[in-house]
Amino acid sequence: MKKSFFVSTPIYYPSGKLHIGHTYTTTLADVMARYKKENGYDVFFLTGSDEHGQKIEQKANEANLTPKEYVDGIVESFKDLWTKLHIDFDRFIRTTDEDHMKAVQKIFSLLLEKELIYPSEYKGKYCVSCEEFLTYEQMDENFVHNVCKNVAKDFQEETYMLKVSAFKDFLVDLFKTNFLEPEARKKEMLNNFINNDLEDLSVTRVSFKWGIPVIENSNHVIYVWIDALSNYITALGWGSEDDSLLKKFWSKDSEVLQFVGKEITRFHSIYWPVILKSLDLKMPDKLLSHGWILSGGNKMSKSLGNVVDPIELIEKYSSDAVRFYVANNLPTDKDGNLTEELFVESFNTNLANNVGNLISRVSNMIIKYFDGKLNKVDLDLNRPLVKLGLETIDEYKKQMDVYNISEATQTVLKLGQECNKFIEDTKPWALEKEGKLEELNLVLSILQKNIIIISFLLKPILTENYSKMIGQMGLENNEINFENISENNFDYKQITNKLVLFERIK
Ligand code: ME8
Ligand code: MG
Repeated sequence: MKKSFFVSTPIYYPSGKLHIGHTYTTTLADVMARYKKENGYDVFFLTGSDEHGQKIEQKANEANLTPKEYVDGIVESFKDLWTKLHIDFDRFIRTTDEDHMKAVQKIFSLLLEKELIYPSEYKGKYCVSCEEFLTYEQMDENFVHNVCKNVAKDFQEETYMLKVSAFKDFLVDLFKTNFLEPEARKKEMLNNFINNDLEDLSVTRVSFKWGIPVIENSNHVIYVWIDALSNYITALGWGSEDDSLLKKFWSKDSEVLQFVGKEITRFHSIYWPVILKSLDLKMPDKLLSHGWILSGGNKMSKSLGNVVDPIELIEKYSSDAVRFYVANNLPTDKDGNLTEELFVESFNTNLANNVGNLISRVSNMIIKYFDGKLNKVDLDLNRPLVKLGLETIDEYKKQMDVYNISEATQTVLKLGQECNKFIEDTKPWALEKEGKLEELNLVLSILQKNIIIISFLLKPILTENYSKMIGQMGLENNEINFENISENNFDYKQITNKLVLFERIK
């Protein structure tokens, strides 16, 4: 039986257009999904939109539209972005989807029946922009939320509460495992929330209407975060007639990876496990909480308005260029930056001068000296560059298997640099002048082999250029896989076209 892999992004609020921060998370998930497919897994990649809540209701009012009309338009723009960026998801879930809404009501009823949800009163501070009940540690003395910089509102309502406090021992044990990364975030959650008087959570609202109604009490709508978190299982058919996807992808035999930004780690590492535990479902194997893309020192965000539009970058520089920047230049364990200067600099250094240049130099020499096709030779595994190529495959896999996409990419780029150096050292043009054709054939064969490795390992990122990259080495799209990549038994075709890949940006 094939191994299964489930990967998700947060479902984003359609309260405005998506920016490069959302593009970052979604690209990471897409790269992991593609890598796992290459590795022989059955993959389910889930993304979507989080459409209920007070903030959306407000935005719709401002735009003089019904909430549904308002979100319909924006959700189209989400899908359009993902198409332009070659995001290959298996389902785009909308929290307004009928099957999702029904399942969420069912989850609520079940928890109510188990008395894990109970009617009560709640008083506290609420951030509408983040749809989050805040503790005093999350605000300054003027009740400004430290993430989005909006002022939190007083909140006092009759509400149903989720008995989170009853799960303290469970959470303490869960936090002894390494389900949440990075380690620093784990400590933060333990110190700020779990060990610091873990409170029950208000899970219904009465002051507005745009949400999933509570069946048992129609004055209430279900809190948007309970609605949203549930998407990861309702999308797989939880509680429906056909839950075969759930059985396949959310089971102990499946690897479950969830990407989230650090500001929503509290929801995903505390409340989400509580819901899963209440439903007797397994915990995610890994919750990868990544840092922020900053802009002017702050989190780039819709509410602060300091955003970079991914569509503009894609249209100007290509989808591969955007995918490459976020995968390579933004390691998940820290905050990062994206400015146009940094973007262009990374493109030129890594894709134009390193990978692109290498491919055109080598393919041009194969065309010039060998009429587009090298003579078959056995590569000596003791030659340092041959060895490095094979080691790079192993190192890349090692990094990808622990979701270090940026580190994995950098090992591949390192191989590219070594290949360019090898050209300078061996001087193929001199070998040709001296008539050392056998040596020349060998040098180019080593380079060709390594370019194939480089291209294949970058395939999950460079979805537009991959076939051109290996095409310049005389191979076709589906000829290479993790089984045959280490060998050298490819059926090379004659290369005839000179092609510039990743042309330098001026
Ligand atoms: O929070 N840097 O939706 P949202 C990196 N609907 N990542 C960023 C980012 C930045 N500057 N800005 C946004 C919500 N992101 C809820 C989620 S899930 C059950 C419900 C990414 O539209 C990052 O993944 O505010 C972050 O967690 C997410 O977008 C928040 O998107
Ligand atoms: Mg947000």
